[in-house]
Amino acid sequence: MARVLSGIQPSGDLHLGNYFGAVRNWVSDQERTDAFFCVVDLHALTQSLDPEDLRRQSLDLACVLLAAGIDPEKCTLFLQSHVPSHQQLAWILECSATFGELKRMTQFKDKAGDQEAVRVGLFTYPVLMAADILLYDANEVPVGDDQRQHLELTREIANRFNNRYGQTFVVPTATIPKVGARVMDLQHPERKMSKSVNSPLGTIGILDKPVEIEKKIKKAVTDNDGIVSFDVEAKPGLANLLTLFGACLGEDPEEISKRYERYGDLKKDVAEALIESLRPLQERYQTFSADIPEVLRILHHGALKAREVAEVTYQRAADAVGLVSEA
Ligand code: TYM
Repeated sequence: MARVLSGIQPSGDLHLGNYFGAVRNWVSDQERTDAFFCVVDLHALTQSLDPEDLRRQSLDLACVLLAAGIDPEKCTLFLQSHVPSHQQLAWILECSATFGELKRMTQFKDKAGDQEAVRVGLFTYPVLMAADILLYDANEVPVGDDQRQHLELTREIANRFNNRYGQTFVVPTATIPKVGARVMDLQHPERKMSKSVNSPLGTIGILDKPVEIEKKIKKAVTDNDGIVSFDVEAKPGLANLLTLFGACLGEDPEEISKRYERYGDLKKDVAEALIESLRPLQERYQTFSADIPEVLRILHHGALKAREVAEVTYQRAADAVGLVSEA
């Protein structure tokens, strides 16, 4: 059975990009694989978050994942900081990854810009991500398109380590969905929808109320030529709406475009499809968020299972590089 690992940061409210790019696919992956899903709270420390916000957002994200259909009976759901091997392996891998490799990471370049005061953790973040993945011998890593480069780095680090120290890690593959891998901002369709950019009208949260979803889709930026067609380059706003619609219906966005003649009709149906797709999740969210002790219990159980796997891999890597095992 294939092993799957993926993670998500508790750095803000989940949006449609996170949902269609990753989380929804996790729900189907758990049916056919041995899957591990991780709320990567240590990664969120690379940003300046209030401690209370981090705590609240981490638990809230767990509630959202459970509401989305992540089922602790079928997979392992845990908090990254509950499994110390992540940090332990990250150090060993940091001593294998190079400064040049990390400097080329586009997400780092985008976030850091020219600032001198950029955190070291933001720079080394992709190595911690590599540790998250390699600890679980994951063959598949379901992510959105923006994680492609981090996955390439993970593969590079794993291959180099295996060549230098002998077969230690499984080399993983990114699994990126056909539709929804890159959901764009509704107001700025040239950039991706993002938790870290403040664009209230451009971002649809997966807990947004139906009226908010309707409003945001209605106001979504399109173009003026009035022709409905799927053209990412020439008509990025419209292509994004068709992509969202395609993700909801499980259909090809281009095929959907052929059924519409007017932007207004398309927008109305996209809003309706999104509202219906999110409704069950939003209802279940209320149940989980009202019972945090139960969510903590699920995370504890998940951490026990995750630790069992992660500790074995960490020990293998520690042995490989020459660290002495404790008697
Ligand atoms: P994060 O928390 O930014 O995003 C979580 C997942 O959502 C996907 N995603 C998108 N997909 C489509 N369109 C978008 N606009 C969009 N925005 C985000 C991301 O690709 C991701 O799959 N570094 C990771 C978290 C991480 C991780 C890991 C992932 C840490 N360790 C190990 C996989 C395996 C991140 O910041 O994702």
